[in-house]
Amino acid sequence: MAISIKTPEDIEGMRIAGRLGSEVLDYITPFVKPGVTTGELDRLCHEYMTNVQGTVPAPLNYAPPGYTPYPKAICTSVNDVICHGIPGDKVLKNGDVVNLDITIITKDGYHGDNSRMFYIGEPSILAKRLTEVTYDCMWLGIAQVRPGGHFGDIGHAIQVHAEKAGYSVVREFCGHGIGKVFHEEPQVLHYGKPGTGDELKPGMIFTIEPMINAGRRDIREMNDGWTIKTKDRSLSAQWEHMVLVTETGYEVLTLSAGSPPPPAFITDAKAA
Ligand code: MF3
Ligand code: CO
Ligand code: CO
Repeated sequence: MAISIKTPEDIEGMRIAGRLGSEVLDYITPFVKPGVTTGELDRLCHEYMTNVQGTVPAPLNYAPPGYTPYPKAICTSVNDVICHGIPGDKVLKNGDVVNLDITIITKDGYHGDNSRMFYIGEPSILAKRLTEVTYDCMWLGIAQVRPGGHFGDIGHAIQVHAEKAGYSVVREFCGHGIGKVFHEEPQVLHYGKPGTGDELKPGMIFTIEPMINAGRRDIREMNDGWTIKTKDRSLSAQWEHMVLVTETGYEVLTLSAGSPPPPAFITDAKAA
C-alpha cells in the first residue's frame, strides 16, 4: 500500500486538528505539578476536549489488533515509562519527568497527535539533559523533511544525535502516517540510514516522536497490556509533532501559543 497524499481539504482539516491537539497541552500545563495524579490530568484533558473544544480523545477505547481497548483519554508516561502509560492514582512528585501524549479527533474526523515532556518541580541533571537531547532529536528529524528526501534521513539524524549523547533509541515503536486514520502508513523509524526508505512527497503527513532511553534500548511490557517501560529501569523521554511535507520543505502542524520554541538550529520561518 502506498503512503497517502493528503488533499488540500485534508491538509486544512489537519492544520486545525494539529492546533487543537497542541492546545490541549497548553491547557494542561499549569496543572502538571507535584501532588497531582495522572488520573486527574486525564480527567481535566478529557473534559477540555469534550466541553471546550468539541473534540474526542482518540486513545479512549482504541484497540489495535492484539491490544485490549485503551481505557483512558490520554497517555501519561512517568520516568522509566517509555510510552502508553495509563493514567490512574499515581501521584506526581518533585523530580519526576512525565510525557503527556494527546490525540484529539475533530468533528470532521481528523486526528491531532502530539506530546511534550514536563518536569515535576526540579529535574535531575540527567532528566533535564535527556529531555533536552530528545527535543533536539525530534527537531533534527523534522529538519530533514523535504520533497525528494527519504524517511531514512529522519531516522538517521535522530539516531546519530541520541547515540552521540550516550543514549539509545527505542526500536519497537515509531512515528506514523496520520489523517482520518490514527495510525497509517508509513512507519517512521527513529533510526536508520540516509537515502533509505520511501521518498518524501508533498502532501504526506506523519508524526515524528522519538523515544530515547538514558540507558539501554530494551523494553519491557507491563501486564496492563499497554504500559511500556525500559528494561533496565533507566529514564526515557519522548516528544512528538505532526509534520506536513510541503513543496519546499515542511510545516509543523502541532503548534500553538504554548508550544516550546524550536531549538536555535531551526532557522526556517515555517517552524516558528
Ligand atoms: N498517541 C500515541 C502515538 O503517538 C498513540 C497512543 S495509542 C493509545 O501514536 F491507545 F495508547 F492511546
Ligand atoms: Co503518534
Ligand atoms: Co502521540
